[in-house]
Amino acid sequence: MLTDKVASLDVERIRADFPILASTLHAADDRPGVPLVYLDNAASTQRPRQVIQSIVDTYEKHYANVHRGIHWLSDQSTDLYEESRNKVRAFVNADDSGEVLFTRGTTESINLVARSWCDANLRAGDEILLTEMEHHSNIVPWQQAAERTGAVVRFLPITDDGRLDLDVLDQFLTERTRVFAVAAISNVLGTINPLETLIARAHAAGALVLVDAAQSVPHQPTDVSALGADFVAFSGHKMLGPSGVGVLYARRDLLDAMPPFLGGGSMIRKVTTSGFEPADLPSKFEAGTPPIVSAIALGAAIDYLQGQGMEAIQQHEHRLCVLAHEVLDSVGGVQRLGPSPGDKCGIVSFKLDRVHAHDVAQILDRQGIAVRAGHHCAMPLHKRLRVAASTRASFYLYNTPHEVEQLGRALEAAKSIFRRKS
Ligand code: ALA
Repeated sequence: MLTDKVASLDVERIRADFPILASTLHAADDRPGVPLVYLDNAASTQRPRQVIQSIVDTYEKHYANVHRGIHWLSDQSTDLYEESRNKVRAFVNADDSGEVLFTRGTTESINLVARSWCDANLRAGDEILLTEMEHHSNIVPWQQAAERTGAVVRFLPITDDGRLDLDVLDQFLTERTRVFAVAAISNVLGTINPLETLIARAHAAGALVLVDAAQSVPHQPTDVSALGADFVAFSGHKMLGPSGVGVLYARRDLLDAMPPFLGGGSMIRKVTTSGFEPADLPSKFEAGTPPIVSAIALGAAIDYLQGQGMEAIQQHEHRLCVLAHEVLDSVGGVQRLGPSPGDKCGIVSFKLDRVHAHDVAQILDRQGIAVRAGHHCAMPLHKRLRVAASTRASFYLYNTPHEVEQLGRALEAAKSIFRRKS
């Protein structure tokens, strides 16, 4: 819940921690560059010096393989790696660090569940429930699981203003539903979904719930224990951490019963020529050399986020979102996608009348503004909204109201360029 009691972020001080934000772009002999305005945070965020330094420090002082060597450096590296797992555990309030698996990202976390849990548990005719607002990474792994098992994938519809249609939830969540996979926050619409209600209704129907938390964990406080979800997936690179590392939180009893996802070194207790015995959690699901340096740096990213305060970050983004709506509405000819700011986070997607989203993004880029354009890995959602492509601005703790106003002015410029052309 947003409250005025939360202290404001010191955004200028935060920006000074991010070297890339001082970049200027498109300089030429006859003109200076324009400052970078980075509004593509839903795709990937930038990193503060503290995270970059963690990467350098690990390589320069602490690096060796983890959980393998009987030597000092390997012990150091292992301690840092496990310390980071414990930071993740505390950050999302999991009970037990055995329930926190390092993966390569949200996509791999979801694939792990869709492969390991579904193959062991689904039968022909069982149902997997998704929603029309899911990212492809929370659609395709389930479609693949359905192909393997004979299960059926169904999609909970959304309303025209981009919310889940809870009025029809009971028609979609039935005794045949075995798993319900849903985004905490839509990566296109910014809609914040009512997870408590969804999880309670799914559990009452006997289904497990996987939450795609790629767009929520970086932006608001998360408490997986209070939430009661069975699986929660998120990525490091969307929360100031490096790419190549992500997390799957899962209930211990589920992980204990699930077969390993990938086979290889580290995930075994014993191997013979006739078979293997898997290791205990979390190693059972971390085959091969893990993303050691990235996982350690994810711990540094968590330290940084906690130093600012997740509630303060959430509130800052909410203010930017409210301003972005005002700015877009004042431009004219802009069709915003998704609900009003009260029900969404700092993601604002829109269509500019008679201008293709790619052209909008290109014109914005000339003014230094980085946004994403296209279907944002959510083709079924765009089809449902009857929009071929959209432009998306997405905010984080280092963005400023001034940058949101620049976006508005750049859109005005885009409109007049296309008015002249047509
Ligand atoms: N999932 C990322 C996005 O929505 C890549 O842009």
